[in-house]
Amino acid sequence: MSRILLVGTATLDLVFELDHHPQADEEMRAQTLRTCRGGNAANTAVVLAGLGHAPEFFGVLADAPETSVIEADFTHHGVDFSHCPRLPGRPPTSSIYLTGSERSIVHYRDLPELDFTNFNSLDLEDFAWLHFEGRNVEQLRLMMRHVRNNFPHLPISLELEKAREGIEYLFEFPQLLLCSRGFARYYGFDAPQDFLLWMRERAPQAEVMVAWGENGAYGLDETATLCHAPAQPPLQVRDTLGAGDTFNAGIIAARLDDAPLAEALQFACGLAGRKCGVVGFGFPVS
Ligand code: FRU
Repeated sequence: MSRILLVGTATLDLVFELDHHPQADEEMRAQTLRTCRGGNAANTAVVLAGLGHAPEFFGVLADAPETSVIEADFTHHGVDFSHCPRLPGRPPTSSIYLTGSERSIVHYRDLPELDFTNFNSLDLEDFAWLHFEGRNVEQLRLMMRHVRNNFPHLPISLELEKAREGIEYLFEFPQLLLCSRGFARYYGFDAPQDFLLWMRERAPQAEVMVAWGENGAYGLDETATLCHAPAQPPLQVRDTLGAGDTFNAGIIAARLDDAPLAEALQFACGLAGRKCGVVGFGFPVS
């Protein structure tokens, strides 16, 4: 069991299950509505707890009644959130439309992001791994530089889901870059191999992986050999929300076990596949 710090966002998700996506001006009824905790780093933390690790989520929480949904879920899954700064405001909120294998997310946030002063107050001594959601670039850069200067051997992973201005200034710090297909496409890549080689030039110190939806996931090992693991979809896809965050948890867990890259990819694809077969995050992890 390892202590893992996950820096990012926890959201309030309003998940509407629909039989089709709404057209403009259409009025329709959802089959179900769930109000639950979400957010990439928060989802990854919950899955790591299910895998037997001791994750701590670190991000700003709104000092608002709705935050109780987020707190109750963290408590239920055994995710520590005791050091999260609280600020007045409301939780970042997503309206999510789910139709089997497709999902649309409308996200809103006006809660300030975590800053370096918050991070600097944490004692990092006991952590075995740090994971960052690639968002507020300037502050993240300060955080990661602090880790590199003061804890040179502490592994860092960085999630690159969305392209953001200046995000390339973060590439030099992590040992592991976890990229999305959307991120690769933003930079004009339709082939995972080409994207990985391009990333490799920009982050020669890091292992780079990219999840490619129904095509599985790809990575380059330290000898620049391409590894691939196929997707492992369940018999019936019920909920793909957070599948990428689950994949990331699988990679971090496998890396903590020193699994070779090909094995890590296979494990993470299996985990993400199992997640897609159940609603929410109460899925069997093995
Ligand atoms: C899924 C998710 C949702 C959240 C949204 C934030 O990956 O983390 O739980 O609402 O993305 O972008």
